[in-house]
Amino acid sequence: MSSFKDIKAKSDKYLFQNYGRIPLSFDHGQGCYLFDSDGKRYLDLVAGIAVNSIGYSHPDWVKAVQDQAARMAHVSNLYHVEQQADLAERIASISPEGIDRTLFVNSGAEANEAALKMAVKYTGRHKVMSALNGFHGRTSASLGATGQVKYQSGFEPLISDAYEYYEYGDPESVKRMITKDVAAVLVEPIQGEGGVITADAEFFRTVRDLCTDSGALMIVDEVQTGIGRTGEWFGIDNFGVVPDAITMAKALGGGVPIGALAAKEEYAMTLVPGTHGTTFGGSPLVCAAGCATLDIMERENLVQNSKDLGAKWRRKISSIGSDKIKDVRGYGLMIGVEMDSPETASNVQAVCRENGVLVNVAHGKTVRLIPPLIIDEGQTDVFTDMLADIIR
Ligand SMILES: Cc1ncc(COP(=O)(O)O)c(C=O)c1O
Repeated sequence: MSSFKDIKAKSDKYLFQNYGRIPLSFDHGQGCYLFDSDGKRYLDLVAGIAVNSIGYSHPDWVKAVQDQAARMAHVSNLYHVEQQADLAERIASISPEGIDRTLFVNSGAEANEAALKMAVKYTGRHKVMSALNGFHGRTSASLGATGQVKYQSGFEPLISDAYEYYEYGDPESVKRMITKDVAAVLVEPIQGEGGVITADAEFFRTVRDLCTDSGALMIVDEVQTGIGRTGEWFGIDNFGVVPDAITMAKALGGGVPIGALAAKEEYAMTLVPGTHGTTFGGSPLVCAAGCATLDIMERENLVQNSKDLGAKWRRKISSIGSDKIKDVRGYGLMIGVEMDSPETASNVQAVCRENGVLVNVAHGKTVRLIPPLIIDEGQTDVFTDMLADIIR
């Protein structure tokens, strides 16, 4: 591997400068650890932003990807793709009741695009309701649904007046706004990019009822919360609510780019041949990776680990008992530690990094913990002890 200096120089010269990157570059990963170009080891509590749930370089995943690459990586949706059907069957088996059909795309934003197209086509309506402070992606429709000025600013002509924003967690806000023009209400089970913001079951139940009454589709964006992250297969399962469709991506492929829209039969069948598609969506390679990922998650009980260890970790962090920690929240291994200021949060991030632990700050002052779901208690304690030291 080249030196960090050389990698940075080349990146600065040839890449778009659209990311505010941390001055680090990695050579490889193993389990919950990443190794930089000098061989320094980092405990990774970011997991590629909730992607690497089975950790890095899991041997069974590597073998599945290698075998599939050797046989056939891509073939196109002109034909039937066995691995796609296999993964769709697996998704149906873990999804909320009745969500039995899947369309494969390549990212979370694309999954949301597909979901919104499906809702508009099915209902014949044109409005989409989504939450303030939410995040649904950077393509035009998903950006339109992302109720945050900081992401939309400078792109306003792309965003039509089809989008309306309710207060996340406030059932009354949704009630006030929903009309017979609304095709879909889009909602995250936990707002991830928004700072690990949670809402209660009553909110999700009300959204469900309002959608049923008004004829709008309830679409749950599980791009970050899905595939075991919150201690259930899907974040919405924590609230006992069955939506009409869910979108997922990130962790589904164990590291390869994949996205999916899963929906109830009635809605899925709206997208007849010619209405939607993508060249790469659901290639044999990514679907084989997806099946291997779900196999590993089941075999290693990672959803349960997420639930149990997540709850324990939140308790341990809360028990540090410092006025610099304002809140500890989340479900499973999707945890937000809200600090007293953005400065404290970025200081925690920087000192952790110096000491070989990677964490991420979401929405200013919340330290977000979204580690591989294979993480063990000893590894979570490394962060807890470090946090206690830093704020002392
Ligand atoms: C809830 C949610 N939806 C959508 C997206 C967009 O996914 P992608 O970056 O794969 O387009 C993200 C990405 O962070 C997300 O957290």
